[in-house]
Amino acid sequence: MILSVRDLKAGYGKKIILESISFDVQPEEIRVILGGSGSGKSTLLNNILGLERARAGEIKFLGVKLRAGIDPVPNSVRVKTGVLFQGGALLSSYTVSQNIALPLSIHRPELPAPVVQEMVAEALNKVNMLHAFHKLPSELSGGMKKRAALARAIILEPQILFCDEPSAGLDPITARSLDDLLLELRETLHLSVIIVTHELESIKAIGDKILFLSSGKVLLDDTLENALHSAVPEISDFFKRIAPKENDEKNNVNFNFR
Ligand SMILES: Nc1ncnc2c1ncn2[C@@H]1O[C@H](COP(=O)(O)OP(=O)(O)O)[C@@H](O)[C@H]1O
Ligand SMILES: [Mg+2]
Repeated sequence: MILSVRDLKAGYGKKIILESISFDVQPEEIRVILGGSGSGKSTLLNNILGLERARAGEIKFLGVKLRAGIDPVPNSVRVKTGVLFQGGALLSSYTVSQNIALPLSIHRPELPAPVVQEMVAEALNKVNMLHAFHKLPSELSGGMKKRAALARAIILEPQILFCDEPSAGLDPITARSLDDLLLELRETLHLSVIIVTHELESIKAIGDKILFLSSGKVLLDDTLENALHSAVPEISDFFKRIAPKENDEKNNVNFNFR
């Protein structure tokens, strides 16, 4: 088991957002977290990562047992954990290569500069961005920024990658290529991925298992197939709501040519 969450409770101030969340993530599993806006998806990721202090629960994270909100996530786990968040922006005054080298300077300060350069180039190559090595973030498109951020998230060859709405703000074609990239990295790095997204195409393309949050609880923890065919009204309504409308494809084409 890569990740095992038991009875996680989390909230802000007096407000409890997550009552009691339990689920597991297997090696090389892509786990999609679903739920309405404000259902606590980001809260869940932040609490697992120890970025917010959980109220209760147990997390077994890459073999290390942690009391949620009490035990800090140890460095041995952090180095094997990649994070690609929507707001996880690149530092604007650093070049792309300097941005991607950041995790190495934190976790592998002993590495000589030429080795760092080589590792950065390799990570950039994995996301097809070698040409952007010396560029500044301001010179990149939205999709390229996401790819650069992904290169930074995988530079330490993590075992698990957390993504919070990574394709938000991307055009459909770029979003699809990000999906392909995640599938490829799962193969090459044997990554497990925990991803929040509500794009049906992404969910169908990459999802192995779904965790559906509702009212602070797990409403469904099942395979993609079973989730798509769920008779639970809240879940079937959700999938109907995120299904592309009939004219979407045409509109996207029009949009691209405008
Ligand atoms: N830093 C915060 N302080 C107080 N309330 C927050 C904070 N972050 C999120 N919330 C609240 O917690 C709930 C869940 O938020 P969030 O986890 O961001 O939902 P989701 O990612 O599913 O849209 C929302 O009601 C939101 O307003
Ligand atoms: Mg969110």
